Amino acid sequence: MKKIGVVTAGGDAPGMNAAIRSVVRSALHNNLEVIGFERGYLGIIEEQYRPMGPRSVSGIINLGGTILKTSRCEEIRTPEGLKKAAESLKSKGVEGLVTIGGDGTFRGAIELYKASGIPMVGIPATIDNDVAGTETTIGFDTAVNTALSAIDKIRDTATSHERIFVVEVMGRTRGFLALEVGLAGGAEIILVPEIKLNIEEMCEKLQRDRKEGKISEIIVMAEGVGNSNEIANSITQKTGYLVRLTALGYIQRGGTPTAQSRVLASEFGNHAVDLLLDGEKKKMVAVREGRISSVDLDDSMRKTKRLDMSRLRLAEIISH
Ligand code: F6P
Repeated sequence: MKKIGVVTAGGDAPGMNAAIRSVVRSALHNNLEVIGFERGYLGIIEEQYRPMGPRSVSGIINLGGTILKTSRCEEIRTPEGLKKAAESLKSKGVEGLVTIGGDGTFRGAIELYKASGIPMVGIPATIDNDVAGTETTIGFDTAVNTALSAIDKIRDTATSHERIFVVEVMGRTRGFLALEVGLAGGAEIILVPEIKLNIEEMCEKLQRDRKEGKISEIIVMAEGVGNSNEIANSITQKTGYLVRLTALGYIQRGGTPTAQSRVLASEFGNHAVDLLLDGEKKKMVAVREGRISSVDLDDSMRKTKRLDMSRLRLAEIISH
């Protein structure tokens, strides 16, 4: 193998740059040439790329976002888009591709492997941490800490005004981010899409809490649960309590990656290059039982990652 490509796709995640840096420098260390495709799969289809030398990744380990840019590319889901992408990779002599992103990115990689026969290694990077086969993903720890620092601030005003706050966090259709943030932030209630929302029960709990001396409550809600405005309004209607809503939104995706996100990205990047050099065809780097490892890309895409319900129960017990 002489040349590999690297691409970031889907929603950006803090630590993607650290992963690019690690892929590029690990590849160069093994005498491989590297090219970086820009704007996700669109850059492969439209042949937007740049050679990646050792200095092309200087000073980026601490930066959020991705220097290669990213996009959600619809064309890669079509036979024509896949054909163009396969031809583009082949014409540049790319013999392996490292794709950094979430499950949408990996579905694209699987199809691109079928269309081109070029080996693919995925690096899981998403603030949602919803990729099966790995305990954690690049950017998750940073997003948790970003949301946590906002919740700590919200608690000050919630306590002072004796109010209820609903704080909406991202996570798409899953509750990993909400659960982690809620547990770490001492949320009184954590709402995740994996558990059907029961407004009546939630309001009864809020009323019980008040009778037992609680003066304010934080409800951390995953975006996948539903419309946060409607939920906040129905709490007020049913209980008469004043409820304020904060949707944290895209601040969770930006900012300086934490040490955990950077170290994970550095290890993942290096392992991804090793897998290509070992002749693997379709793998995803992963953390399993706390160790850097890998899983079959197809396997990961077939499975659904489980939310740890025992942590939800723990949060309930200790927030009482
Ligand atoms: O997957 C990351 C994520 O930030 C989700 O949490 C969120 O639902 C989605 O991306 C937002 O996507 P977009 O950037 O396309 O608005």
